[in-house]
Amino acid sequence: MLDFDYSISTEVYFGTNKIGRIAKEIKKYGNRILFVYGQGSINKIGLYDEIVKILNDNGIIYEELSGVKPNPRIDSVRKGIEICKQNNLEFILAVGGGSVIDCAKAISAGFYYKGDPWDIFLRKAHVLESLPLGSVLTLAATGSEMNGNSVVSNTDTKQKLVISSDLLRPKFSVLDPNYTLSVPNNQTAAGVVDIFSHIIEQYFSPVKEAFLQDRMAEGILKTCIKYGPIALKEPENYEARANLLWAGSLALNGLLSYGKIGDWATHYIEHEVSAIYDVTHGVGLAILTPHWMEYVLNDSTAYKFKEYSRNVWGVEVSNPIMVSKEGINKTKEFFNSLGMPSTLQEIGVEEGSLKEMAKKAATFGELGSFQKLNKDDILSILKNAF
Ligand code: NZQ
Ligand code: ZN
Repeated sequence: MLDFDYSISTEVYFGTNKIGRIAKEIKKYGNRILFVYGQGSINKIGLYDEIVKILNDNGIIYEELSGVKPNPRIDSVRKGIEICKQNNLEFILAVGGGSVIDCAKAISAGFYYKGDPWDIFLRKAHVLESLPLGSVLTLAATGSEMNGNSVVSNTDTKQKLVISSDLLRPKFSVLDPNYTLSVPNNQTAAGVVDIFSHIIEQYFSPVKEAFLQDRMAEGILKTCIKYGPIALKEPENYEARANLLWAGSLALNGLLSYGKIGDWATHYIEHEVSAIYDVTHGVGLAILTPHWMEYVLNDSTAYKFKEYSRNVWGVEVSNPIMVSKEGINKTKEFFNSLGMPSTLQEIGVEEGSLKEMAKKAATFGELGSFQKLNKDDILSILKNAF
């Protein structure tokens, strides 16, 4: 296990009616806020009215940034920064899924920066200061509610890039599973795949000795396998929603990666698919993850696949390559059982764009750590997934 400094600073309020906490939490940072949300789901479930009432009852002044799209755009970020500056806002409240929270984080990151916020995503500038933010999560998937990542798209340049800083971790997040009962099946499934993939990206690591982290990872993977199908069959099953919600946060709040090095190649490749085709993140991952697994499986990596196949899927075959392949098949079958497609072609990707995606994915160098991938490796994975 590698050395690490533990710091997961987000206060979490988990469960029914925890929304009541937001006024007290916000007031620690100020009285003038930006209220950020998406394209209407929070209105449909009554959450918008609930929040507005709490803000009004507590004398919190708010400006709104609505209409944040899935795969949030840098344009919304620019608009949010402008509203914050014009109105001297002191805090950002993000209410929605990962896209809304990521947009809020990018506003937070760009608020004190004098140039264009896209510079930060291009790594021309760093996050040195941020406007504090909090979240009310409505979809189990990204872990954004407890981490410092923000993923934003630029439709002009067809790029989807990530920034990461502890300064962007939400100060608090309300996780009330009741708000996720309305998530439609396609988004529920994509969310389960995203959680699953976050764990895989950390489980498959060049650091071999981190027994504890890997057993925790397997527990969260099994939670996805148990409760994903239940949430699809019974969308209003509280226990299923609650388990998935907490799984999503634990999968990417840092807990599983302390003492290890993550891989993240599949995520970077998926972001290139989303950047051009605006696909749902979890759908892209469901297609690419089994192909990444197949590509990196060899005699020297089979030990880890064997562990995965046995501990997560209960596969009992003695040959290390056979047992690994069986685990990969189980992964594919699981994603398909959630209604996920198997090929890039099915989601409208054109063969001609694969080269461009591979090149862009390798912009900052080789991907991965469990197995390093250059531009040609990435292209092979994309071709296999096509
Ligand atoms: O626009 P609204 O009305 O909010 O509707 C959303 C959207 O259409 C809807 N939705 C959310 N909660 C709902 C609901 N519909 C009904 N009932 C509810 N309770 O679901 C749709 C998808 O929402 P979105 O926020 O885009 O989903 P998700 O949470 O999966 O976020 C995906 C984004 O996060 C990025 C992805 O790349 C993608 O851009 N990621 C962020 C990460 C992070 N910050 O750490 C890591 C991830 O790997 C990922 O890259
Ligand atoms: Zn993800």
